[in-house]
Amino acid sequence: MSVLVTGATGMFGTLITELLCKAEVPVMAMTRSQERAESLTSGSVTGVVGDMDDPDSLEPLLAQVDRMFLLSPMHADLGARECAAIECARQANLKQVVKLYGSVEHEGDPLDVQHWMAIDALKASGLSWCLVSPQTVIESHLMAQLPSIKQEKQLYACAGEGPMGIVSAVNCAEIAATVLQEPVDRFQARNLQITGPEAVTYAQIAEQLSSAWGETIEYVDLTEEEFAQGAIEAGFPAEDLELQVLCHFRQIRNGKAKLVTDTYEEIMGRKAWSVEDWAVANKGLFESS
Ligand SMILES: NC(=O)c1ccc[n+]([C@@H]2O[C@H](COP(=O)([O-])OP(=O)(O)OC[C@H]3O[C@@H](n4cnc5c(N)ncnc54)[C@H](OP(=O)(O)O)[C@@H]3O)[C@@H](O)[C@H]2O)c1
Repeated sequence: MSVLVTGATGMFGTLITELLCKAEVPVMAMTRSQERAESLTSGSVTGVVGDMDDPDSLEPLLAQVDRMFLLSPMHADLGARECAAIECARQANLKQVVKLYGSVEHEGDPLDVQHWMAIDALKASGLSWCLVSPQTVIESHLMAQLPSIKQEKQLYACAGEGPMGIVSAVNCAEIAATVLQEPVDRFQARNLQITGPEAVTYAQIAEQLSSAWGETIEYVDLTEEEFAQGAIEAGFPAEDLELQVLCHFRQIRNGKAKLVTDTYEEIMGRKAWSVEDWAVANKGLFESS
């Protein structure tokens, strides 16, 4: 059994590659950069170069594996990129494609339209497939905020009082790595919605961080415009703000991220991390200078 992991240098792909490597599963870890491919090679993992904008680069890779973990960044080309990869997987007659989707209800917004192009192509492909669908992710919300959490003891967002079944990327990667190692029939055609154990607001997240890290951390609720301006001033590319940040906060504010499932517990036999569990496990992030 062997797996092509796309997005292998990103948040989810790095974690999934590490877990498959620990399990000694042969992995081709894909990146667009030769240099990054070389640095990915270790143990059962071989770093390989491929680009979903150039499907010819995927064909020789898919000819060497049984399964593919499919992920591409939040971008207006997500649908075209993933459809191209699915078509290559179909031609290579792969045993399984595991696609990363999501559990926030995006209700047909531009990001959702892109994901559904790929999901529809997957369903029509005749391949075995499974969706791994993280609820909104702890690391995405908190890692970029670490400097202000540490220096100002403040957590900025424009999430209002929206409840989130927020989940760690680590728990989502555990599910994807498990699906990729199990017989394909076990999770065939399932949408695995992976959430944390409870739905919490940003104010409650600040309380949980305060408890785990022994400091009083306050939530500062901004308007969407204030948050966008701050992000641009901090160097976030203005053209990526809508698809990568603002559309998510809008849905969170509107109560569309409140879903909580027991799918993680069903598959892993233990509870997913709460924000506090994550913060305790990652206390070093707060303590380091
Ligand atoms: N963060 C969340 O809260 C959340 C929740 C649910 C779902 N999602 C979904 O997760 C996905 C993003 O995952 P992530 O956060 O792990 O991404 P990420 O950290 O931004 O990494 C993106 C990866 O995609 C690769 N990539 C970029 N352009 C590519 C191309 N043209 N062809 C092939 N690979 C390309 C990059 O590799 P190189 O640059 O090395 O080539 C990198 O490994 C999105 O589909 C998003 O909708 C995110």
